[in-house]
Amino acid sequence: MTKKVYIETVGCQMNVLDSELVIGALRKQGYDLTDTPADADVMLFNTCSVREHAEEKTYSSLGRVRLMKKDNPEIVIGVLGCMAQKDQELIRKRAPYVDMVVGTGQLAEVPMLVEKVKATREPQLAVSLARSAASRDEVEASFVSYDPTRDPTMRPTPFQAYVRIQIGCDKFCTYCVVPSTRGPEQSRPPAHIWQEVKQLVDQGCKEVTLIGQTVNSYVYDHGDRKTRLSELIAGMHDVAGLERIKFVTNYPKDMTDDLLDAVRELPKVVKYLHVPVQSGCDEVLKRMKRNYTADYYMEMLHRCREKVPGVAVSSDFIVGFCGETEESFAKTMELVRVAKFKNSFIFKYSERPGTKAADRFPDDVPEDVKKRRNNDLLLVQNENSRANHREQVGKVMEVLVEGPSRREQSATHQASGRQSPPGGVKQLTGHTMTDHIVVFDGPERLIGQTVRVTITDASPFTIYGKVLTDEVTGVDLANVDREPPGQPQPQRPDRFSLPLV
Ligand code: SAH
Ligand code: SF4
Ligand code: F3S
Repeated sequence: MTKKVYIETVGCQMNVLDSELVIGALRKQGYDLTDTPADADVMLFNTCSVREHAEEKTYSSLGRVRLMKKDNPEIVIGVLGCMAQKDQELIRKRAPYVDMVVGTGQLAEVPMLVEKVKATREPQLAVSLARSAASRDEVEASFVSYDPTRDPTMRPTPFQAYVRIQIGCDKFCTYCVVPSTRGPEQSRPPAHIWQEVKQLVDQGCKEVTLIGQTVNSYVYDHGDRKTRLSELIAGMHDVAGLERIKFVTNYPKDMTDDLLDAVRELPKVVKYLHVPVQSGCDEVLKRMKRNYTADYYMEMLHRCREKVPGVAVSSDFIVGFCGETEESFAKTMELVRVAKFKNSFIFKYSERPGTKAADRFPDDVPEDVKKRRNNDLLLVQNENSRANHREQVGKVMEVLVEGPSRREQSATHQASGRQSPPGGVKQLTGHTMTDHIVVFDGPERLIGQTVRVTITDASPFTIYGKVLTDEVTGVDLANVDREPPGQPQPQRPDRFSLPLV
């Protein structure tokens, strides 16, 4: 009988990718993935520590597992990732039935640790991530030796994949745990990344999202020369079959012109930049140690829009950070009003033990004030999103069709008697080249293809469209295909030419 592994993932794209890698490695040891905890021989929790809420989610899952372990003492319970890295002792204290605690730098060891637990029934801890010069190589070694066999069933869709180009973070924003959970910033060698992208495209991937905590700080030092993000992207751009290249998340101070030129000029690069500002108040930014002022950010934003016409920009915000007065918050409100982000992710400040902010500044904004500020900021952002979405109405956009819309998914789950529209037409969804989510009706066989969609309607969260039917030739929906086969690939301008390794 095959052994079964169950995994629950919280946190950012890094964790989604880590889970994919861990499952890929376990499959090689004969494990199959199950989404039923009761069937599992191994239960894994890939965790996040960025806010307290994320940690509580894991602890409540672990609480449910306690009984399961009583019924089935053979089951192996593992806690992986950022919280494992940070709180190995605490996890064992709060959930002593956990068999292994594996940090972000040791995920490659999961299959071996599972076997060790089974053989010895002794708890296994693997969390070393010391910040010494020597350990940098250790981190890189553990990462590179990590089996690159990946598990396509764990991807967002079979034709979209994450590719890690950078590990860790060196920025040390005062509120943030990531530098201590992910270790020092390191860029992976371009040749490794290019090879991985080619493998993914061979497996049917059309879109890659390059991920790093501050992805635009990417720089690989070859000794005699350096490769920057713009060159890294150019070096993968012409891989045949690759249609889209995205990258997240950007650090405002590292938004260089060469990168913006690459975004503008390379046709496969998504015209979307996620560049979190966090706050519109200089004093707050200073306490956060973001290393820029609100004016600097706004200048950078104008530069992005000037260099990449039509680019969509989004941001993150933390409201209620230590010492944020009504006056400072008003500045953030004003920044959101004028910056007109496509969308924003807004978080209430959550004090993280061990960070500089927790040591130095009292968490002095009451919870109800944080809540109100969160709502107020969201209202302004929603107005901007609505206006941004309305501007799209009438445009024709290229959409990579990802699958049935959420409404469609829940309808098929819930309503057993529900009739499908005639001809297998469903409500589908996908992203445009500016990262807008579009919902439209179309046959299921469009999933995985890039189609042109006319935008017909908009809400603050979604835009709606119609797949372009070619009225001239009378091609109907069922025959919509993007381009005739053999269409040449979009070419990059010469100045971005780089040898493909
Ligand atoms: N590396 C990325 C993302 C870091 S975590 C970056 O620097 O942009 C994602 C977001 O979580 C951050 O942008 C920030 O807005 C939020 N965040 C981080 N630490 C937080 C904390 N202690 N409380 C609330 N939000 C936090
Ligand atoms: Fe955290 Fe700042 Fe690094 Fe982002 S840049 S991961 S917010 S320390
Ligand atoms: Fe969370 Fe770790 Fe990502 S703390 S946000 S899972 S890097």
